[in-house]
Amino acid sequence: MFIFATPTGVYLDMKIIPEENKHVLGLKLPTDPRWVDLTQISIADILTDHAYCEQKAALTCISLIQTYSECYELVRELSPVVTEEWGHFRTVLAELDKRNLPLGIQRKDLYVNELKKFELKPGARKERLAERLVMFALIEARSCERFRLLSLYVPDDDLKVFYHKFMVAEAGHYRLMIELAGLYSTPDKVEQRWQEYLAYEAEIMQNLEVRGDRIH
Ligand SMILES: [Fe+2]
Ligand SMILES: [Fe+2]
Repeated sequence: MFIFATPTGVYLDMKIIPEENKHVLGLKLPTDPRWVDLTQISIADILTDHAYCEQKAALTCISLIQTYSECYELVRELSPVVTEEWGHFRTVLAELDKRNLPLGIQRKDLYVNELKKFELKPGARKERLAERLVMFALIEARSCERFRLLSLYVPDDDLKVFYHKFMVAEAGHYRLMIELAGLYSTPDKVEQRWQEYLAYEAEIMQNLEVRGDRIH
């Protein structure tokens, strides 16, 4: 896998996704351009929400490892991601510390709660795992898109670099979750479900209030 980013686009698997292409990472609806400005009203709020997103990503990986301990590749691939996501949490915490800010209170994750309503619970255990991985991939993809916007448009140069690192990491996680889903289902089924999730997620994004105190 080959991933890097430049000011003109995110490169995934050698395929350039230009900035003007609204289907970044396959997402059907680009983030409202007003969102980055809104995040700058309270850096404390956006950092707090970001910190909890990283915690939840680590917890999701741990939960998948515990629930599907028989899945060799899953356990081996997700174990280092737990460490990485927890490292992300600590990086955000350090950013709060720099500003003498507390961690703050965790808020309801409306975006993820809406996504969960779309989750299928197929009878076959591995299919259920693939479904969870596809949803996880989508959350990573949307996070990546949002970190990219922050890395490009926040006024603070240090924060630009800060968000750029997250963008690259979450792009890698998105690819990994899709690949793992293909292992436990079939690539065709994963592709079909991915497209269904993308369409559903676009509706969520259209209906969710644009808020500067949320990563999603
Ligand atoms: Fe992360
Ligand atoms: Fe991630």
